[in-house]
Amino acid sequence: MHEIALLPGDGIGQEVAKEAIKVLEVLSQRRGLTFEVKEALVGGAAIDAVGEPLPEKTLKVCQESDAVLFGAIGGPKWEALDYSIRPERAILGLRQKLGLYANLRPVKLFPPLIEASPLKPEVVKDTDILVIRELLGDLYFGKPRGVEAIPGGKRGINTMTYTTEEIRRIAVVAFEIAKKRRRKVTSVDKANVLEASELWREVVSEVGKGYPEIQLLHLYVDNCAMQLIRDPHQFDVIVTGNMFGDILSDEAAMLTGSIGMLPSASLGGKVALYEPIHGSAPDIAGQNKANPIAMILSLAMMLRHSFDLSREAEGIEEAILSVLGKGYRTEDIRQDGTKIVGTSQMGDLIAGHLPRA
Ligand code: IPM
Ligand code: MG
Repeated sequence: MHEIALLPGDGIGQEVAKEAIKVLEVLSQRRGLTFEVKEALVGGAAIDAVGEPLPEKTLKVCQESDAVLFGAIGGPKWEALDYSIRPERAILGLRQKLGLYANLRPVKLFPPLIEASPLKPEVVKDTDILVIRELLGDLYFGKPRGVEAIPGGKRGINTMTYTTEEIRRIAVVAFEIAKKRRRKVTSVDKANVLEASELWREVVSEVGKGYPEIQLLHLYVDNCAMQLIRDPHQFDVIVTGNMFGDILSDEAAMLTGSIGMLPSASLGGKVALYEPIHGSAPDIAGQNKANPIAMILSLAMMLRHSFDLSREAEGIEEAILSVLGKGYRTEDIRQDGTKIVGTSQMGDLIAGHLPRA
């Protein structure tokens, strides 16, 4: 029996979470597996109900489960709140409390979607990149931080910081994973300008010496941003810090056609967390328009990484491929001649295409 904490959150997070659970239910019936799903409040939904984005009770549900499935958080309703109690604090707090320093964001193109990307088919064809984003350091958590008064105005401060150990452990994750892939690691930094990046480059190179079979390349982040859309085939594993990883992974998502296609896994602690990289998309929330595939792929990543259920994970990925192959699309991946379906229909279709045996 596997225990899952389900945190749907806000906006389309609610809708896509429902579809992932639908898929999980059909899968458990077909494969004779038992999952216990415990739902908990997070983000704006938690602020509305109990006044804080990450209630103690939610944290406890997560810590006591085997894995966390997270939807999305935030929205205009909560944007005016003080920074310390904004919905976003919940996901940052969860990552920190659960010790999740390694964020895996696979950027893989499903062949039927080759025309859905804004980039030319010959550019995106066969794209298969794993972005590994460090998740607990950098500008996101560095101190000092804040807004302070200065003569004539204010000053906003954030600090980019990385310690040797923080860099070492994420580099090890990258090299270990690269062993099972195409054996190439591209480390991304801004070492020509930032001392934190200079140390990053030094430590990654040092760790790399222990992996002579892996090719290691260093790129500046601005160049990487360009190379990603110029020629994504040059990349296998990309390892980078928290801030650059946040930006580059959204950019890389477009290679797959839509940000609605990209799942992620956050690992490093006892309990891992899985979430789509898209946000709560308030503009389309509640309209049955959201693409649930990133969330359903996040569920597949959970089965693979937390529960060692690789066959089941593959079953989900194959079901998605079949549904896309038959021409079903949500709005964000619309193409000429395809059949547009809503969030819940897409969930039904994927659940219906799961392998029978
Ligand atoms: C992401 C998101 C989050 C981040 C936000 C919601 C705090 O953009 O997971 O990429 O910046 O890490
Ligand atoms: Mg982001």
